[in-house]
Amino acid sequence: MTHPVQWRSVIAGVGGYLPHRVLTNDDLAKVVDTSHEWIVERTGIHQRHFAAENELTSHLCAKAAECALKNAEKDINEIDLIIVATASPDLTFPSTAALTQKLLKNSKALAFDVAGVCAGFLLALQVADNFIRLGQAKTALVIGGETFSRLIDMEDRRTNVLFGDGAGAVVLEGMSPEKAGNRGILGVHLQTEGQLSDILYTDGGPSSTGHAGKIRMSGQEVYKHAVTKLTDSAVKILAKYNITINDIDWFIPHQANVRIIESVAQRLNLPREKIVVTVDKHANTSAASIPLALWTAIQEGRVKPGDLILHEGIGGGLIWGSALVRY
Ligand code: ACO
Repeated sequence: MTHPVQWRSVIAGVGGYLPHRVLTNDDLAKVVDTSHEWIVERTGIHQRHFAAENELTSHLCAKAAECALKNAEKDINEIDLIIVATASPDLTFPSTAALTQKLLKNSKALAFDVAGVCAGFLLALQVADNFIRLGQAKTALVIGGETFSRLIDMEDRRTNVLFGDGAGAVVLEGMSPEKAGNRGILGVHLQTEGQLSDILYTDGGPSSTGHAGKIRMSGQEVYKHAVTKLTDSAVKILAKYNITINDIDWFIPHQANVRIIESVAQRLNLPREKIVVTVDKHANTSAASIPLALWTAIQEGRVKPGDLILHEGIGGGLIWGSALVRY
């Protein structure tokens, strides 16, 4: 019996989109009792982008996808899988992926959403990678898109300073191992601990209250779990693929808080110059933050083809994990 071909998922292009409206820390200090200095010291955030009133998550996703397709030199009709990671969908249903597909004028792909909140992009990447490895999809759009500004309680200073809106997208192409060479997704590993669902959540939903609710969070609890779980996840994935920390060219984690990012990097012995930080300008864009950071680093000429990237993310669930990708 012959074994089926194991395809490899290679990143063919990356794109992003940030809404035009920018809110500084000083803007927020006019709404709640906070200050630029407090926000920068505790989070590293200087500003965030907020979507316009008529701009929905699917609009941001479509713009990021168009940018990624252009960079991949692919036509939308080559796409046979669209996965959107989001916790701020346009509607309860249909999926934001289906609405994005409509905007992109693609009519052949399977399109669906995944719910992994701030780890959602890694979840979407893992699902798409599995489709491609099994030959069930050839060219996939993996998008993280959010309008978290709609889930923020603007009167709660403990959360309203942390989040922003945006979308990032990656075009994945299935290649034979011969063609891919050493490029592609090496692996993604995620884990969930539902017992911790009450430390980061929205206080509403279709089945409970009939409305989306607002973000509620035990900040210190989340911080503590983020640092330990992300460090542990990185150690495990590096060991699994027999990669040392010195082999990593870039650390591109979920962008929640610069202190979390630096604490994890320090525990892993990753030098500062290998860390990509965008939380200062984008704030926490949940599922969009990793592809937006990747897109930014590519645009800046930092990440280059062949570089080995360690991604990490954690979100409400709790759900967390890592990915190793050779760009
Ligand atoms: N401005 C001014 N003061 C504030 C603000 C604010 N925006 N927010 C809270 N404070 C006050 C609190 O009220 C408290 O005052 P009190 O002592 O008089 O009660 C004081 O600051 C300290 O509050 P803490 O919550 O203990 O502050 P902490 O140092 O833990 O920082 C923060 C809060 C930034 C949220 C931190 O806990 C954190 O980063 N947690 C991680 C959570 C995170 O990043 N979540 C994002 C979503 S999850 C994810 O993406 C991983």
